[in-house]
Amino acid sequence: MVMIRTLAIETSCDETSIALLEGKRPLANIISSQISHNKFGGVVPETASREHVRNIMNVTKFAFEKSGLKPDDVDVVAATYTPGLIGALLVGMNFGKSLAATLEKPFVPVNHIHAHVYSVFLEEREPEFPFLSLIVSGGHTLLVLVNDYFNHRIIGSTIDDAAGEAFDKASKMLGLGYPGGPAIDRIAEMGDENFHKFPIPEFKNKEEYNFSFSGLKTALLYYLKNTGYETMSSQDRGEITPHIAASFRTAAVKQLLNNTVRASIDFGINNIAVCGGVSANTLLKKEFFKLRKSGYNVFVPSTEYSTDNAAMIGITAYFSFLKNNRNAFADSLMVKAEPRLNKVLF
Ligand code: KG4
Ligand code: ZN
Repeated sequence: MVMIRTLAIETSCDETSIALLEGKRPLANIISSQISHNKFGGVVPETASREHVRNIMNVTKFAFEKSGLKPDDVDVVAATYTPGLIGALLVGMNFGKSLAATLEKPFVPVNHIHAHVYSVFLEEREPEFPFLSLIVSGGHTLLVLVNDYFNHRIIGSTIDDAAGEAFDKASKMLGLGYPGGPAIDRIAEMGDENFHKFPIPEFKNKEEYNFSFSGLKTALLYYLKNTGYETMSSQDRGEITPHIAASFRTAAVKQLLNNTVRASIDFGINNIAVCGGVSANTLLKKEFFKLRKSGYNVFVPSTEYSTDNAAMIGITAYFSFLKNNRNAFADSLMVKAEPRLNKVLF
């Protein structure tokens, strides 16, 4: 294995994260989560950019300290370039480009969704190609057939809300705060999933592997209205909230599971990877891991690599750098590994 040392930057949303990797192995993966958004019930873009500016130097210093590396040890600098909040992305991109220019090292821009897909390679057990990747984050829900490195085919996606977004909205309705996924997950562990049957959409066309979460969200809204949830005593609410959360979580996870399994049968692929923030969900992991009993190879990253982190940006940059495949990204920013070229492009 080539021992390339990568410094990776992730600032697409509300996590300022810097990682240092040696080959595929993270030596440090520092994640600073911006809690100032919590009181607004969602991420405030302008605040996110400002906090990245404030945090990025310290997070970088901390990552160097933890890894034992020095700036001169870095061979490649990488940062998320899309998708995400533009102001937030600009902070990481410009920080990365400046660092690469100063160190006279190549800069590799990384697509955040690709990075979630390759996050499973940060673990010891890696999937073999081809595999199905279910990407479930705050902004995306995609089912992707991964044939090889940077050879992907999207076979399903959400037609409305993303899975994480549905968890966040449900949490708001139940007064559980932001971020909603972990809050619902925690309280659902104490509830009865059979308390209420929330709808699981089915698409008419058998070859469709799309997802829809807006019906589930509306069903919860009407359920709460019809039961007078908002005017209940806090004691009554406290009693039923875990059951509602558990029922909601089950409907969301079943939809994700059903579609993925159906696609795996149709495509004859028994390697399944699940990634993105929602893959940290307790029930989701349990349900997907159960498939191992039926001969599936199932890969879910540990929570540190499920939610936004720079280690996944680093490993994706590493694969991309080795392959040096300009076509891997539908973007002209991919820079070849020649310092002189870097200087021209900056
Ligand atoms: O991948 P991620 O960290 O950021 C994006 O790229 O969007 O995903 C964030 C999403 C949020 O919607 C959050 O509520 C959800 O992942 N999430 C969870 C859990 N942990 C995070 N959803 C369900 N259960 C969890 N345990
Ligand atoms: Zn993400």
